Amino acid sequence: MISTKVAVAHPNIALAKYWGKRAYGHNLPAVPSLSVTLAGMATTTKVTFDDDLAADELVLNGSPASGEPLTRVTNLLDRVRLRSGVRAKARVESSNDFPTASGLASSASAFAALAVAASAAAGLDLDVAERSDLARKTSVSAARSLFGGFCELRAGREGDETLAAAEVAPKTHWDLAVVVAVTREGPKDVGSSEGMKHTSLTSPYFPAWVESAPAMFETVKRGLLARDFSVLGPAVEQSALAMHAAALAAAPATIYFTGATLEAVLEVRRIRASGLDAYLTIDAGPHVKVVTRGELATEVAKRMEQVPGVLRTIIARPGDGARVVESGA
Ligand code: DP6
Repeated sequence: MISTKVAVAHPNIALAKYWGKRAYGHNLPAVPSLSVTLAGMATTTKVTFDDDLAADELVLNGSPASGEPLTRVTNLLDRVRLRSGVRAKARVESSNDFPTASGLASSASAFAALAVAASAAAGLDLDVAERSDLARKTSVSAARSLFGGFCELRAGREGDETLAAAEVAPKTHWDLAVVVAVTREGPKDVGSSEGMKHTSLTSPYFPAWVESAPAMFETVKRGLLARDFSVLGPAVEQSALAMHAAALAAAPATIYFTGATLEAVLEVRRIRASGLDAYLTIDAGPHVKVVTRGELATEVAKRMEQVPGVLRTIIARPGDGARVVESGA
């Protein structure tokens, strides 16, 4: 057999962070998270099941890939094969239309697009929750890119066989923007899977993070639903900085910040002191992402670009969930 499908997915940024997995179950998050899926940047992934292939193949941004990325891809494909009865190996061609080192979560959009394309190519008629669960089993944050706008993923519970994200509000709910202050192009940071594992195993603050994260998540959700920046913003910042505090207390410390990161953090505080709604979040890397009102995005970006060490900015707005497309557009 030869069967091909193409899917598109967008990265998402967590406003309430996921960091750490449950000790039980399979790839279950230890805390609830809430994110916004971003427009303007996309991963396009083509999956072809082909009986003539001896092994799964992965081509990333035009170059053959092996090792860890291919292992994770095969892991997802194996689940699809098990469920569909398709036995053929697959060729996976995936590319990002945004720079891979842009500091935006490319693995979330990658595994969301792969889950959608692979399940469709195998003839499985999965609903969005089943696709989200499939993506989550390989990468937790990818579960959220199945949804457009704003969505949540609850923490895992003992006995969970499936766990999917769910919509909190559509993209039209609130004209928010995320201004990404890019502080470094290249070399790779400690990956999030590795960083959170090390945090959970060695940081004395990890239990405190797991205990306190649900309340921050609830506040982020309340602020979002009420469109109230004064509720949303401080909780977004606290969620990110509490996650990093737990990582910083690991032995040895997992430090994602650089000098430019801290300069950018201080600028966000100055922007806020000047009366603009601007709050920061930081993922497993040195870039600072500023959550602001859509109409303030250009002004915030201009100010962030003045910060020493900030190389450029990207303005992103709420976008759509992952979907099958006719061709590679
Ligand atoms: C800091 O989803 O990449 O971006 O589940 O091990 O694949 P795995 O980790 P991943 O972690 C994302 C961590 C984060 C916060 C977030 O997106 O919630």
